[in-house]
Amino acid sequence: MRIVFKEDSQTFHLYNDQISYIMTVLRDGQMGQLYFGKRIRDREDFSWLLESLPRPMSSCTFEDNKAFSLDHLKQEYPSYGTGDYRMPAVEVLQENGSRISRFVYRGHRILEGKPKLEGLPATYTEDDGEAQTLVLTLEDEVTHLVAELSYTLFAKGAVLARSVRFLNGGGEVLHLTTAMSLCLDLPDHNWDFVQFSGAWARERHLKVRRLEEGIQSVGSRRGHSSHEHNPFVILKRPGADEFQGEAVGLAFVYSGNFLAQAEVGSHGTTRVLMGIHPDSFDWKLEPGETFQTPEAVLAYTDRGLNALSQTFHSLFRKRLARGYWRDRERPILINNWEATYMDFDEEKILGIARKAKECGVELFVLDDGWFGERCCEHAGLGDWTANRDRLPDGIEGLSRRIGEMGMKFGLWFEPEMVNRDSDLFRAHPDWILHVPGRPSAHGRFQYVLDFSRKEVVDCIYGMMEKILSEAEISYIKWDMNRSITECYSPALPADRQGEVFHRYILGVYDLYERLTEKFPHILFESCASGGARFDPGMLYYAPQAWTSDDTDAAERLKIQHGTSYCYPVSSMGSHVSTSPNHQTGRATPLHTRANAAYFGTFGYELDLNTLTEEEQAQVKEQIRFMKAYRRLFQFGTFYRLESPFAGNVTGWMVVSEDRREAVAGWFRMLAGPNQPYTRMRLAGLDPDLVYNVTVRRVTERPFGQFGGDELMYAGLVTSDATSGEVPGGEGLLDFESRLFLLKAEE
Ligand code: GLA
Repeated sequence: MRIVFKEDSQTFHLYNDQISYIMTVLRDGQMGQLYFGKRIRDREDFSWLLESLPRPMSSCTFEDNKAFSLDHLKQEYPSYGTGDYRMPAVEVLQENGSRISRFVYRGHRILEGKPKLEGLPATYTEDDGEAQTLVLTLEDEVTHLVAELSYTLFAKGAVLARSVRFLNGGGEVLHLTTAMSLCLDLPDHNWDFVQFSGAWARERHLKVRRLEEGIQSVGSRRGHSSHEHNPFVILKRPGADEFQGEAVGLAFVYSGNFLAQAEVGSHGTTRVLMGIHPDSFDWKLEPGETFQTPEAVLAYTDRGLNALSQTFHSLFRKRLARGYWRDRERPILINNWEATYMDFDEEKILGIARKAKECGVELFVLDDGWFGERCCEHAGLGDWTANRDRLPDGIEGLSRRIGEMGMKFGLWFEPEMVNRDSDLFRAHPDWILHVPGRPSAHGRFQYVLDFSRKEVVDCIYGMMEKILSEAEISYIKWDMNRSITECYSPALPADRQGEVFHRYILGVYDLYERLTEKFPHILFESCASGGARFDPGMLYYAPQAWTSDDTDAAERLKIQHGTSYCYPVSSMGSHVSTSPNHQTGRATPLHTRANAAYFGTFGYELDLNTLTEEEQAQVKEQIRFMKAYRRLFQFGTFYRLESPFAGNVTGWMVVSEDRREAVAGWFRMLAGPNQPYTRMRLAGLDPDLVYNVTVRRVTERPFGQFGGDELMYAGLVTSDATSGEVPGGEGLLDFESRLFLLKAEE
């Protein structure tokens, strides 16, 4: 890993054994982008990569020259108004009304390791030798606004982390109205734009479209990263697939409004921007004040999308997630939400917990309904003290009883919200985000607390800290169940209202930071009506997230498949729920529900007392199995083999680091008569090893002994599960699935 600066050609080359990132100081002092991709050998001068021809209609910078035009030069941190007509990375409103700026190179520093981002989640190093950081100092000559562009190059992995810090070094008041975390100008547009989009209960579905002239983008202006789009996109070559081809991945380490955009210019280049959504953003900078953008992570592969995902998985699992639970196997939990909704008392809860304990569950999670006057969606949010009608001895008593059963206890909170019918709202009606004199929209009858205000965050912290200190709590599910409207804070002056969305998220991060610091052993799971805040920012505080409110196994295949492009298996909350499913009405076999949920943190979301004895025996066996295999599922290398977005079969696989152990999951949506022969090619094995393979449906039976080469190149024969010829006709079921367990011969 090296970051070098060549004095003569004014060129920076950042490289490790996999990637190169090259930029140069342009003739006008601004930074130009020369190359990002597979590692190339270092040399003194890469200026041949600077393409710039005279173009009719282009605006030119120098009197003596018709070729130097910002209209088509590839740049590092472009602004609008001096010849570049593409969307800018930065825009600054000045006292005279001008929005024109020009950031020129002033100097740079190269640091060992990676500095922290103040108040924001970010990737990190544990040892300075793991990375180097280049900080480029740029300055707008007129306003003296300084932009420090940070590039962290990790020694391992085809990945760069970028962010920008602004400092108002001049004497006038400025407004940052666009401040992207990353700009990347690519030399061509032969790319597919891959996005992960959907809605509640169908989050992160894979969508692919070819880039064309003009702008294609995804984003959120809902105040959270959203169900609708994820702050993660991929540009892939049209021919690239899971196992081969070139792709660039971009992930935004942030949980609020975002924009991820690709703009193809008329000369065929592509500008990629990622950052806080400029609509609804306006940050005032007084002289001497600073603004830190969130981080964006940029990864590259020339070996297909599985390799790209694995780069994100390993970085996010080991150097974005933090804390006690980062490297630990996650407890198998039971959550009472779908079992009871808000209709429960202590006795009912203890009944569910007792049966769960008998089956081997390790953690009981009490969901929504335990606090204040929470009889229904209309009341209680904001009053974080136990409802004594339901829980006579409070959370302290219940958690003690569950502890005495030999299980850990976890609790649901929705810290950012309030109902009008709550003591908190009655005491502080002005604590919600709202515009005085205008009506406020509700979502699920709840309102959003103004987390841009420190006293609001302090108050919620106080209530949570008290309960966490008094009771025996090992896990928190932190929910957030509506999008933000009327984003206005009466506590801020008029010219700072454009800061509220971002200040809100900073408040959320502050509360997370204080709670995780005070209670380092508590496992946090983030949630936002399922997967509306499944983003890299949250992973920094909560190493796992509730992937979706949709617990239907068939739907989960798509959701978890889409999620896996960026996020590791260890981060995906996944539970077995009842059948027919509450979200879809679909009936699926119990073993398929479990087989899908093993590729995640695993748990149950139903009352196990309602199952037959035979099903309860199956559940005990599932838990025994997951306890034996969860290290492999949660920390192995994950591969997508077959896509639910492409056909009837989904294939996933996890492989241990030494490649001696693996599990492959095969899932089929609909059965059909007289099906074709089928095989599933495995991946990531050692071709020279011999593997004993066991097939697991409800029970396990030997499947055969095969070479790693046979399994990867010829494939695993899955036709037995499609023919209907297996004993008992089990092959004819819809929503069928198998796990194949591989162990290398000694
Ligand atoms: C959200 C969550 C669910 C559950 C409910 C409780 O919808 O995603 O898992 O916690 O809230 O109200």
